[in-house]
Amino acid sequence: MKKIIKGASIVTEAEVFKADVLIDGEVIEAISEGLECPDAEVIDAEGKLLLPGAVDVHTHMDLDVGFTRSCDSWESGTIAAACGGTTTIVDHMAFAAADVPLMYQVEEYHKLADGNAVIDYGFHGVLQLMSDEKLSEMRRLSRSEGITSWKAYMTYGDNMIDDEWLFKIMKVASDEGLVIPAHCENDALVEVTKAELGAKGLVQAKYHPKARPALAEAEAVSRLLYIAKEAGEAPAYVVHLSSAEGLLEVSKARQLGQKHFGVETCPQYLALTDAAYEDDSEGLKAIMSPPLRKQKDIDALWEALGREGLIDVIATDHCPFTFVEQKQMGREDFRKCPNGAPGVEERLSVIYSEGVAKGRISLTQMVKYLCTEPAKIFGLYPKKGAIIPGADADFVIMDPNAKHVLTIADMHGANDYTCYEGMELTGRIEKVYSRGELIVDNNEFLGGRGRGRYLRRGTSSLVK
Ligand code: URP
Ligand code: ZN
Repeated sequence: MKKIIKGASIVTEAEVFKADVLIDGEVIEAISEGLECPDAEVIDAEGKLLLPGAVDVHTHMDLDVGFTRSCDSWESGTIAAACGGTTTIVDHMAFAAADVPLMYQVEEYHKLADGNAVIDYGFHGVLQLMSDEKLSEMRRLSRSEGITSWKAYMTYGDNMIDDEWLFKIMKVASDEGLVIPAHCENDALVEVTKAELGAKGLVQAKYHPKARPALAEAEAVSRLLYIAKEAGEAPAYVVHLSSAEGLLEVSKARQLGQKHFGVETCPQYLALTDAAYEDDSEGLKAIMSPPLRKQKDIDALWEALGREGLIDVIATDHCPFTFVEQKQMGREDFRKCPNGAPGVEERLSVIYSEGVAKGRISLTQMVKYLCTEPAKIFGLYPKKGAIIPGADADFVIMDPNAKHVLTIADMHGANDYTCYEGMELTGRIEKVYSRGELIVDNNEFLGGRGRGRYLRRGTSSLVK
């Protein structure tokens, strides 16, 4: 059955224009003014925005952190994503509990996701406990499994990737055209500070941001980018950039002519401050790494997004743990609190309202950061992230003027809170289509469990 979406303002990364869109099955067939197709179902979108289905390249569904798991299953987490206008995710894998081949986690993730995800999905591989064998395996799996990005954590105990291995990984990435997303925090600065705070009994939630200072991020961003450059401009990718200090290091690298790297920030670093930690109990909700920062950091990140050229992607780092139970593990000591917060359902709504409606970024910039650039950087474009003939018919129909209040009562994930509770939003998602199927209508999920497909990803736009 064909469908025509009529009358919407189509938003791409480059322009906003009025046209109709003809969908044939799962893909976009044509885009033009005054399209007619006698047997097509007509969807009236007059006065509405038509956006590409959003692409979230940083989630942690059902993440095993050793002592608990993030509370969203691949089913509940992808339903939440869909209701928030996201039709594709690329999930960051958990560390394996033992020193096993990289393929082990790939198989584990297929067991978690296949048959459960309701939207299309891919995986970033995870690098840990490195060896020459794992470097070869990374090369092999990139081709055989379509996993063209492999994450390195520059902190996190035994699973941290040190500079020696980071350099070796970057050389392979440069050679093979693989993206290396990196969690950038200087491990020593974090661990020594955490231990000092602990020794003084300073273990309430308000000390979490003190243990993970902005300079720890800035130092690691700078080191990552120098190492990538020396490895032949390997396609490095900074995940969840949170601070003005980190941004300055990005800017220095760009000024020195380094081109082939990507930078991501997240809505929480654009809309929430470290005031969230003032209350020792409520503060547990916002324990995440890196932590929330100051208003000056928020201002610097928005300014960079509006100016373009420094930040490429807004993803979420969706990693939810329940407040009533899981976050309480940190009640007596923030260091025992599972790190992470929800965000997959809130992303588009918060970025439209805080970014576009407040005039900090344009509509086209929003589509670039939420849809098109993540698809390009992670080898999914033009199937995903674009409204062009031949692309998957993944869309969001949005009312740009409707107002509502964000509250957990209206949300779909497994968590019991949102960090944005009570936020007054402009703009409302009305319908979401995934491969031509209406999967969300007026905040009701209509799709089926397991309809999501695994995406073998191709070459990144960051590759030289
Ligand atoms: O606190 C966070 N971000 N938890 C998820 C894992 C990670 O570090 O990205
Ligand atoms: Zn993460």
